[in-house]
Amino acid sequence: MSAQPSTIDLARISGILRRYRGQPSMLLNALQEIQSVYTCVPPGALYVVARELELPLSRVFNVVTFYAALSLVSRGRHQVRICVGTACHLRGAEKVLAAVSKTLGIRQGDITPDGELGLETVNCLGACALAPVFMLDSKYIAKASPKDIPGLFPDRRAEAALDQKVSQAQVGSSHGEEGSDAPTR
Ligand code: FES
Repeated sequence: MSAQPSTIDLARISGILRRYRGQPSMLLNALQEIQSVYTCVPPGALYVVARELELPLSRVFNVVTFYAALSLVSRGRHQVRICVGTACHLRGAEKVLAAVSKTLGIRQGDITPDGELGLETVNCLGACALAPVFMLDSKYIAKASPKDIPGLFPDRRAEAALDQKVSQAQVGSSHGEEGSDAPTR
């Protein structure tokens, strides 16, 4: 599930921007601070930033979409970035991705329902000698092995197991309902 903050508190954003008011050169700082609060720069905040820093809206939009560290949609409070570039691909990146995806219970491009972890792939992390490698926020996990993944996310492992049981139970009960609706001969 990709997520977007369902509501944004414009008063809170204005509060963040108070110390940057009328200072166009502080745009990046202002955007980073907003992102640290919302895990993204909500689109609805762009015009407030433009107004307070006295910048064209297009300039604010261009900066948010230019820097990889900024995003208009939430990527989760913490990011898992799995390299699927050539060196990592040759050393089993797809299996690492599958293991992380299974452990977190989300697919590439999604974030966990609590908004804590986002999972994405990248084409190179600049650490090919460590392949297969992925990053958890700013930390490199070198020579990653699928069997080690659950241990890196112990809480998530328990949650994923629980989710799986719940979905299996739901499938089981829906099959039971189908059975009761089936015509009898
Ligand atoms: S290809 Fe994975 S770090 Fe370069």
